[in-house]
Amino acid sequence: MKLHVLGSAAGGGFPQWNCNCRNCSGLRAGTLRARARTQSSVAIGEGDDWVLVNASPDILAQLRAAPFLQPARALRDTGIRAVMLVDAQIDHTTGLLMLREGRPLPLWTTRQVREDLSSGNPLLSVLEHYCGSRWHCIEPDGRPFEVDGLPGLEWRAVALSSAAPPYSPHRHAPEPGDNIGLFVSSRASGRSLFYAPGLGEIEPQVDALMQRADVILVDGTFWSDDEMIALGVSSKRAREIGHLPQSGPGGMIEALSRYPRARRILIHVNNTNPILDEDSDERLRLDAEGIEVAHDGLSIEF
Ligand code: MLT
Ligand code: MN
Ligand code: ZN
Repeated sequence: MKLHVLGSAAGGGFPQWNCNCRNCSGLRAGTLRARARTQSSVAIGEGDDWVLVNASPDILAQLRAAPFLQPARALRDTGIRAVMLVDAQIDHTTGLLMLREGRPLPLWTTRQVREDLSSGNPLLSVLEHYCGSRWHCIEPDGRPFEVDGLPGLEWRAVALSSAAPPYSPHRHAPEPGDNIGLFVSSRASGRSLFYAPGLGEIEPQVDALMQRADVILVDGTFWSDDEMIALGVSSKRAREIGHLPQSGPGGMIEALSRYPRARRILIHVNNTNPILDEDSDERLRLDAEGIEVAHDGLSIEF
């Protein structure tokens, strides 16, 4: 089985359209050793059958860059057998509208995410006027489930402490199911991976899955809790919007040291994060810890 990274950046992408921070301007000017990145999405599967996990606003460019997702068996075709969403945020959901020309989308989300996408951000209601969707409920209880057409994969979802989007009716009253992490195992190889692009805290049920995973792909949004405040681009702290920063006591680097057996990769990286600069001290620190930074096009076998 494979996980293919379609987009490795957080909301806004890298460079972000209106941003002239050191990273964004350095990338545009060609003075920074870094790669451009599109917004957060991965495809999991093999051959002609894939689950699109998160539908990024950059999906059309991502599909062009991943020809295996267009097997061309018919006049209208796709290798996307289902779409699964880990939350209802803009960067993970607005790409659904770009898939409107196809057949009804098999869509896997929690009850909470479906509710947000039918109320605060009524994407699913809009989609009903085009292809529509066939909803499958994800229970974030850690129990195994299977997606039609991909019998080789076993999925488990776990509720995460992170944050629902600003337009969610439960933005200020978090519910289990607003954000999930996915534990995916290949029945053939027995290998597994854990994917959680928005992760605010590693609670016991999350720790248990991370202990078992051969590959861990987790929240790489911010290096420091006050990163956006220090740069003067926002008043929000990383932890406040549901992202565990990498540095400092209790940060992601320290947390990942508990899983030395796994391949550990940061994903959903914000354009302000110094780890995007491949020559930065922060990136060298990750190298020394054996922690990778995902890039668009990265393919992982499991
Ligand atoms: C997040 O991950 O916190 C959101 O995607 C941020 C955003 O889209 O503005
Ligand atoms: Mn995001
Ligand atoms: Zn920037």
